[in-house]
Amino acid sequence: MPDTTPRGLTRLAFGGDYNPEQWPESVWQEDVRLMREAGVTMVSVGIFSWALLEPSPGTYDFGWLDRLLDLLHEHGVRVDLGTPTVVPPVWFYRAHPEALPVTAEGVRYEFGSRAAVCHSNADYRAAAARITTALAERYGSHPALALWHVHNEYGVPVSACYCDSCAAHFRRWLAAAYGTVDAVNEAWGTAFWGQRYTDFEQISPPRLTPATVNPAQALDYKRFADATMRENFRMERDILHRLSPGVPVTTNFMTALSQCDSVDYWAWGREVDLVTNDHYLITDGRRTHVNLAMAADLTRSVAGGAPWLLLEHSTSGVNWQPRNPAKAPGQMARNSLAHVARGSEGAMFFQWRQSRRGAEKFHSAMVPHGGTGTRVWREVVELGSFVDALAEIRGTRTDADVAVLWDWHSWWAQTLDWRPSVDHDARERADAFYEALYDRHLTVDFAHPEADVSRYPLVVVPALYLMTEAAGRNLTAYVEGGGTLVVSYFSGIVDEHDAVHEGAYPGPLRDVLGLTVEEFSPLLPGERVRITGPDGTELGADVWTEFVVPRGADTVLAYADGPAAGLPAVTRHRLGEGTAWYVSTRLGADGLDTLLGRAAADARIAPRPDLPRDVEVVRRTGESGTYLFAVNHTGADAKVPLEVPGTELLTGERAAGRLAVPAGAVRVVRLDG
Ligand code: GLA
Ligand code: ZN
Repeated sequence: MPDTTPRGLTRLAFGGDYNPEQWPESVWQEDVRLMREAGVTMVSVGIFSWALLEPSPGTYDFGWLDRLLDLLHEHGVRVDLGTPTVVPPVWFYRAHPEALPVTAEGVRYEFGSRAAVCHSNADYRAAAARITTALAERYGSHPALALWHVHNEYGVPVSACYCDSCAAHFRRWLAAAYGTVDAVNEAWGTAFWGQRYTDFEQISPPRLTPATVNPAQALDYKRFADATMRENFRMERDILHRLSPGVPVTTNFMTALSQCDSVDYWAWGREVDLVTNDHYLITDGRRTHVNLAMAADLTRSVAGGAPWLLLEHSTSGVNWQPRNPAKAPGQMARNSLAHVARGSEGAMFFQWRQSRRGAEKFHSAMVPHGGTGTRVWREVVELGSFVDALAEIRGTRTDADVAVLWDWHSWWAQTLDWRPSVDHDARERADAFYEALYDRHLTVDFAHPEADVSRYPLVVVPALYLMTEAAGRNLTAYVEGGGTLVVSYFSGIVDEHDAVHEGAYPGPLRDVLGLTVEEFSPLLPGERVRITGPDGTELGADVWTEFVVPRGADTVLAYADGPAAGLPAVTRHRLGEGTAWYVSTRLGADGLDTLLGRAAADARIAPRPDLPRDVEVVRRTGESGTYLFAVNHTGADAKVPLEVPGTELLTGERAAGRLAVPAGAVRVVRLDG
């Protein structure tokens, strides 16, 4: 079995993507000197180097990489070595133009950017296997090698290809999944609009069609595209395992829902030896540290709770958004250490030295254009010392309070056309529920709907439109066993083929929620409804309403106006030892806080009024101890109560009673135990 931690790395990982091929070798000496100054422990190398490593078919030039790995090794820097299969050289494409992917509209992409890969193309697969084999043979036992980094961010920016090779591959995938073409007809409901197939050969990818394409076909194509990328990952991984035994293999994920929507990370988490993630702040006006926390929690969850590694984030601004603000002083350290609090075994960046040329020259780096006399460099050096001071937390795990159910397939199904309302957005609901839990200072584990969640006192289900019967049984047993469940509208509607569950909505959730839903009645833009309760509670909601019929559930809040006036809006159902809440409309932040406060009381989760908003408190525990991370995202000094005294690792000071966390600062206390 390959190890799951980077080989030979005895500290937390600190470093970045290192692209020395962009610089004369004279600069490399300065690089390694500065790496030592900053406390860099690992760099990612070679991710985009195929054209240099194999300048013409079958001719390899490893000289520069030999010298580089030796130099890094001499300076004690471990290496995360990329397989460059995300960027085949131009000679490859000129020989195999059909390896360039094709859009649903039938347009073939051109060479000249990156990640232009058709994952079904046999020539691509063969070439990727050859370069991976050559690298593994040459460096598989190099003393600097700590980790293999396959490809780069599968699924981004091309999530699926619609070419003829993919069509043929899709047919094979369907035949393996369904056995007969009639089973496909049944699953896709091709009786509708006369789409019946009599032969697999007749089936195409969901290319451009005049009206909306068959939704089950579109959903299966997303599954196929994801599975196809995974096939290619496995192919490379297996070569590396064979030729480089004992060295863990990863590929960098992008779990933030705003950054990659085409990859089922539950499935990918099972394939890698070590889960690694890339995260960038999206500056859309929302609190970026909440999005960061959510991505980190999701990453840890796809790693099954095990330690994972932040492989890329930015020291300051990025360059690919319409507007790319620089990070504020101290923000980089807060970002890095918030990831560490949530399970990352270090903090790595894109990239080490800021490029002078190419598409990413305005993307920040550890060594900025301005060199070492800059704020960014000073903060990088300081962060290096923080990360170094935290070495003892390696292997500890983040404690979570609640579970949020998440399923990429259900999300994909909710992005299909012709739904009750374009304003319903599954990701928005996941974000909103996460944010409400974050603001109650609860740490979230994400869980697949069929996973065992019995250890969590509270389970939250944002919008789980696609849900199997098995998931319904899972949640029913969870509540019967004493759990508290909160389910948001448009959940439990269809099965895995986007076919509506038989009987009334919400099929597999009817029993546990003690209700049925007769109809959805989405609201028009700007339209709002009021929902009220007998205790005087009054909340506003928008986007969605439903006609709910209680069948055992109690009405807690009812619609005071709107299409569902007089009908239940929020219900509570006692079942077995537990409680199931249902909310049939889109609550804002206040409403979600009210709802989750009541559910948390049912779950006997104590509120944390002692913690200020935006002061993030997270724990990691393990054999070496219990560590309390406090990240102060506010501009005011804060105090965080400690139940036992401890030692603060970044300052070395003793801490007891109320831990002072200065404005914008991070503190990590090893609690006495
Ligand atoms: C991604 C890529 C990197 C780089 C960064 C820039 O994460 O993996 O190569 O392009 O984005 O933010
Ligand atoms: Zn293709």
